[in-house]
Amino acid sequence: MDELVHLGIIMDGNGRWAKKRNLPRAAGHLEGLKSLKKVIKGAIDEGIKYLTVYCFSTENWKRPEAEVNYLMALFTNKIYGEIRTMGSLGVQVRLLGKREGLPEAALKALDRTVNETSQNDKLVLQLAINYGGHDEIARAVNALIREGVKEVTPELIRSKFDNPDIPPVDFIVRSAGEERLSNFLLFDSAYSELGFYDKLWPDWDEEMIKTVKEDFHKRQRRFGGLA
Ligand code: IPE
Ligand code: IPE
Ligand code: MG
Repeated sequence: MDELVHLGIIMDGNGRWAKKRNLPRAAGHLEGLKSLKKVIKGAIDEGIKYLTVYCFSTENWKRPEAEVNYLMALFTNKIYGEIRTMGSLGVQVRLLGKREGLPEAALKALDRTVNETSQNDKLVLQLAINYGGHDEIARAVNALIREGVKEVTPELIRSKFDNPDIPPVDFIVRSAGEERLSNFLLFDSAYSELGFYDKLWPDWDEEMIKTVKEDFHKRQRRFGGLA
């Protein structure tokens, strides 16, 4: 049985959750943050070491300005406070994604969170913000070009990712029923298992992580070899 070391989550369905209740989409995002806290606790309880959560994609800038601003304000004003509380749980926060384009205030709050949690070692929480799989690969290749590399290998590309020390994701799960990756972890998902769940993100909690872990243990991974 393979161990679930690194779980990736595409947190989707905040808007639909709000719509069902006749609330503004922002209310769904705020509720989604509460689910994230529960899921982090669940991941720690289940012994998961790395958790990567998709918070904002390089394509999400296409949304109305007010929604983008609301999400940026969440990253600026909320994450820092919430995560600091997580410090007591031993959560180490890391950032994944393109810094360029993010508001200065959000970067400052996120960097502070990363710095202040760097000594924690219970769970590594990778926040994918302004993240896109295409951008990740292009930035890595550009870094190699700047160093004068004439030919790339998969290993060299990966070595230039934001957090190359974090192992590839074992299981990518997505809430809210859509069955696509939406530019999430394109390189590292080469051999990850995929799981799609109808439950909307604001309805996820600790229990869902138990379900997810059980589902992962039913999978048989072969990595191109034989069982
Ligand atoms: C996911 O929920 C959160 C982000 C993409 C930031 P959505 O906002 O995509 O919710 P739906 O898909 O519209 O329901
Ligand atoms: C993916 O969700 C991005 C995040 C969860 C941050 P989207 O809601 O943006 O994806 P699409 O547009 O349905 O593919
Ligand atoms: Mg969505």
